[in-house]
Amino acid sequence: MNDRLWQRAGEILAQMTTEEKIGQTHQLMPSIVGTFDVSFEEMIEMLTDGRITQEEFQKRMASLQRDYHEDDIRAGRVGSIGLDDPKEANRLQRIAREESRLGIPLLFGFDVIHGLRTVFPIPLAEACAFDPALYRRTAEVAAREARAHGISWTMAPMLDLSRDARWGRICESFGEDPYLGAVYAEEKTKGFQGETAAAGCIDAKHVAVCLKHYVGYGAAEGGRDYNTVSIAKSMLHNAYLPPFKRAVELGALTVMSGFHELNGLPCSVNRRLLTDVLKNGYGLEGFIVSDANAVQECIAHGIAEGPEDAAAKCLNAGLDMDMGSGCLPDNLPHALETGRISIETLDNAVRRVLYAKLVLGLFDEPYTPEASAVWCETVDAERRALAREAAEKSIVLLKNDGTLPLKRETRIALTGTLADSPAETMGAWAISGRPSDCVSIKQGLENSGISVQYFPCCAPEGPINEADFAQLADAEADIIVAVVGETSAMSGEASSRADITLPGEQRTFLARLLTLKKPLVVCLMNGRPLAMQWEDEHLPAIVECWQLGVEMGNAVSNVLFGEVEPTGRLTASFPHVTGQCPMYYNHTSTGRPGSRSKFTSRYIDSPLGALYPFGYGLSYTGFAYSDLSVTETETALTVSCTLTNTGARTGTETAQLYMQDVCASIVRPVKELKGFQKVTLAASSCKTLRFTLSKSEMGFYDDEGVYRLEDGEFRIYVGLNSRDCQATNLRVRF
Ligand code: BGC
Repeated sequence: MNDRLWQRAGEILAQMTTEEKIGQTHQLMPSIVGTFDVSFEEMIEMLTDGRITQEEFQKRMASLQRDYHEDDIRAGRVGSIGLDDPKEANRLQRIAREESRLGIPLLFGFDVIHGLRTVFPIPLAEACAFDPALYRRTAEVAAREARAHGISWTMAPMLDLSRDARWGRICESFGEDPYLGAVYAEEKTKGFQGETAAAGCIDAKHVAVCLKHYVGYGAAEGGRDYNTVSIAKSMLHNAYLPPFKRAVELGALTVMSGFHELNGLPCSVNRRLLTDVLKNGYGLEGFIVSDANAVQECIAHGIAEGPEDAAAKCLNAGLDMDMGSGCLPDNLPHALETGRISIETLDNAVRRVLYAKLVLGLFDEPYTPEASAVWCETVDAERRALAREAAEKSIVLLKNDGTLPLKRETRIALTGTLADSPAETMGAWAISGRPSDCVSIKQGLENSGISVQYFPCCAPEGPINEADFAQLADAEADIIVAVVGETSAMSGEASSRADITLPGEQRTFLARLLTLKKPLVVCLMNGRPLAMQWEDEHLPAIVECWQLGVEMGNAVSNVLFGEVEPTGRLTASFPHVTGQCPMYYNHTSTGRPGSRSKFTSRYIDSPLGALYPFGYGLSYTGFAYSDLSVTETETALTVSCTLTNTGARTGTETAQLYMQDVCASIVRPVKELKGFQKVTLAASSCKTLRFTLSKSEMGFYDDEGVYRLEDGEFRIYVGLNSRDCQATNLRVRF
């Protein structure tokens, strides 16, 4: 906490009228302003019955929104705007600073999820790098670009633990593990906000984060977006809250409450979670904003009788800002008059918003220099190099019969429309990215100077083009590289799938490629784990390439040719079949662990466990673990083992440490990640690895949300992934 700025926030607050205070709780989303304006409806009618042309409609819309913004900004009725337009931001900021009574600056927020102009891999891909420094470096660049573009607040990182691949937003997450999630949360927060944020200062190269979607949004029933969530209190504290806790304790400035209902209450009206846990417990210093329209949606949830009820309930619960629904600005005046909310409650919210603006230095430097916006426009060599490194490290080799790496003299027949689509490299949430900056797989292979013939043949959603296929069949090529998967629109918000096998006719397409009797490498481009039972059984080589951003094609080419080793490891399990979802390695113990015998926890028509589990990923060499031992001191365990590179190439392994609390007062997971390290070893060499597991990290939260360390038996695992590891048991005293 920066006491000086907190005090200054109080001083500004003391000068504000009630209307101005309410204005600070209002985030305007330009895309939805019109839908709340009557004259907009009139304009739609005029457009529909032909009184105005489409062009005239758009012109009027622009000026309607402009007037709407300007008057409200002048009157101090807007605290924040969702916008990525540096010129417009400067124009509106000038009105706020120079024409409003107190000159309180606007806060421009935007979804800079995995890069602005420099689009990095989707978060689910980047997480596979198991590289904390990389998580931070990509956020630093994204922050710098955002700030250069007039944005000082990003709606990221998304910290939703995601264990159900049907849920489309799993692409925006770090995956299924809370330990990794907390590491990811820490690095993203440091990268976006900069090192001085914890002391209450975010400089002009960084932005404030907005941790989202608080909390449990990823556990939507059936993997269906916006659906109901039920999570036991102990599970909430052990699995879903840790990434938020870590980031808030490091000074994350804002948090977004999800629009879903959790255990009977929409998150934006949950006083215990917003005020008791986040503000009073973890010590959030900035503010909480609702997700888009979430305040209004309390009515549809059946928890508020109308907009005023929703506004009062949310503010009283601890929400500070309303994203886009207009419920708070429209209804707080009356709610105050009738005593449904107190002026102190409003003041508490406004002080937090003002504090965030002060921490960002917006009162002193409210405008974006034109030169920085220009810098942002071109993805320069330095940013490209980082984007390529991130893309290379995100690729996961799922299967390889020795077909990979390819030899440079190999003549390639490349197929699948995804291979030739720069736009599809960006994923679902890169709103400000430009396809013209992105390198497709086809382009990447061509850039490396090898011979490629291209036959589109099959799109994720389309039929097989027979003419293309016939040409491909006749091509003089040594190997087929097929790029299949999902379009970007098949993951992301509102894009849940009930069947997560390869969509369309792609499986048939792959089966037909096999009949051509040529070596086949399959590159996947997708935003979620897929159910790949058939593919794993039939295909010789499968590479998970995700959606890797501007440098995708170059990165994929480097990995296919072995110029770069594949080092990515999955952070979300791939099931054999969709019906296994939610599928995650760290599930709690059942009374009847699944086995071959009938009356155990299993399916009669699908294998048990994941096809490719958490932590899984192959190298072009092999690794083996031996000599696992554990020694105990008063405060920590030291876990040692020998790692051997069993192959003929230098390679990089991600060594993983897991533990199981064998017997405790509540049922615990069968395994929990507790550490990892990346180790590069020359062919046939070995190394002794050491992990330190602090005893303070071996506990768990009980059903009252109390952290407990319980003496007893623990099982320690080290290995290749969450399934393939060595184990040893010991009794631990705390
Ligand atoms: C999403 C948020 C996003 C917001 C603003 C919502 O629909 O759930 O993640 O930050 O829109 O774009």
